[in-house]
Amino acid sequence: MMHNPENLVEMRGIDKRFAHVYALKSVDFEIRRGEVHSLLGENGAGKSTLIKVLTGVYPKDGGEIYFDGKPVEINSRDDAFNLGIACIFQELSLVPTLTVAQNIMLGKEKAKLGVLQKKSMNREVSELIKRFDFPLRAEDVVETLSVAQRQMVEILKALSTNASLIIMDEPTASLSSKESEMLFRIIGQLREKGVSILYISHRLEEVFQLSDRITVLRDGQLVGVVPKEEIVPADVIRMMIGKELSEATASRPLKVSDAHTVLQVRNLTRLGSFEDVSFEVKAGEVLVLAGLVGSGRTEVLRSVYGADPIDSGTVLFEGKPYRHSVSTAIRLGFGLIPEDRRTQGFAPLLSGTRNVAVTNYDKLSRLGVVNAKKEKQLGETMVKLVDLRPANPTVPVGNLSGGNQQKVVLGKWLTRDLKVILIDEPTVGIDVGAKDEIYNFIEQLAARGVAVLLVSSDVAEVLRVATRILVMRNGKVVHEFNDGVVTQENILLVSSGMAEDHRTEAKE
Ligand SMILES: Nc1ncnc2c1ncn2[C@@H]1O[C@H](COP(=O)(O)OP(=O)(O)OP(=O)(O)O)[C@@H](O)[C@H]1O
Ligand SMILES: [Mg+2]
Repeated sequence: MMHNPENLVEMRGIDKRFAHVYALKSVDFEIRRGEVHSLLGENGAGKSTLIKVLTGVYPKDGGEIYFDGKPVEINSRDDAFNLGIACIFQELSLVPTLTVAQNIMLGKEKAKLGVLQKKSMNREVSELIKRFDFPLRAEDVVETLSVAQRQMVEILKALSTNASLIIMDEPTASLSSKESEMLFRIIGQLREKGVSILYISHRLEEVFQLSDRITVLRDGQLVGVVPKEEIVPADVIRMMIGKELSEATASRPLKVSDAHTVLQVRNLTRLGSFEDVSFEVKAGEVLVLAGLVGSGRTEVLRSVYGADPIDSGTVLFEGKPYRHSVSTAIRLGFGLIPEDRRTQGFAPLLSGTRNVAVTNYDKLSRLGVVNAKKEKQLGETMVKLVDLRPANPTVPVGNLSGGNQQKVVLGKWLTRDLKVILIDEPTVGIDVGAKDEIYNFIEQLAARGVAVLLVSSDVAEVLRVATRILVMRNGKVVHEFNDGVVTQENILLVSSGMAEDHRTEAKE
């Protein structure tokens, strides 16, 4: 076996099986010193499994690993840690009731000494936070932090170990573009110091921008390795999904629907979150709330659903005001698919079918008896709907890949018979191929007369699904696109405040 001294990690012929299914089949993988190396592949391709083998979370069934030119056995996270491998996992692994400092120092010498070291621990972590200029405090309790801030804690935790390899499994899935830029700067700094970064993301643009090299996996097998100068996006996508993807929409014609109004929001205000928000959604419309992360869009969705209180304003369903509560909203036929689907929204030990059934028992049961045949059908519908991989609704959801777990949560709500569906960032963490299935389905829902209100930060996605677009900025609706052709540029300019604001009321 020839070793390339440039390589920090070499994995050779790695096999990993779950029951009789290969999650990895004879995969070769190398990371050079000081390079940013990305792993690309569809949901379920084996990316997380490969890094779990490398970090001692899963034992491998075959193959060898070399670190720094020497053969190594990595049987636990500690083994990986001792070699200098740090990992930010896709499922965040912080302890919610502990502080930022405690989480960062967890498992390290100091934490063992307990409370006595609290002061020096806080000081050390504060310095680290300052060095990277993160909006965090060492004393903050993790459960009070936003998802983005928790992600930063994970990153700091990895940075604090002086690792020679830092693995990031979808680190930007919940970061705003500003926070992502900050992360990219840090990645650049680390790379200059000779640290290797293994990067996983479904946001292809950032992968193409960041990576020195890309390794593509498909169905647990190596497809190829592409160096930066040879990256041709369309080719890489073809390597990932094994087929051509239809052209992305660069612009989209919009129009005001003349169907009846299902949802009407009037002068809605929640102090500190959003102000004087008014709009309506008609049957069959897909109204997208566009804008930057933090512009108040998620908060509007949650308030319309009744999950958060409002300070003033009204919401009407089919022309009538209703009691502001989740139970009323559900009874009227509202569904909310939240953004944070990784940590909430499914029962890991139950099958896909059961997870979907739980949301749909009212439809499936008569006099308390569940119709098993209908339940089975529903599971099968969900599998097709979201293109679940493996296409088997009996697998416990906890055993699915991160992206496929999210697909089940989407599927739960999309299979319900709803009048209004509120969806927050429908495709974060979902691969390019499955995205299309989800867009098609949203269109089918709208065609059935469902009123769709959708939050998305992905401009290409907005143009793919919207029939009308509202742009929010700093808690206010600043613009409506409701006729003519709109482009990505139009939306970005308004979202960031670089174009004139203008709000035209949709014609009644
Ligand atoms: N604990 C497990 N038990 C059984 N099967 C598993 C387990 N973990 C992963 N798998 C299977 O291994 C395959 C690869 O999953 P993996 O999590 O590596 O995918 P991924 O490439 O990280 O996908 P994503 O982009 O969705 O995160 C999938 O088919 C998945 O269902
Ligand atoms: Mg994964």
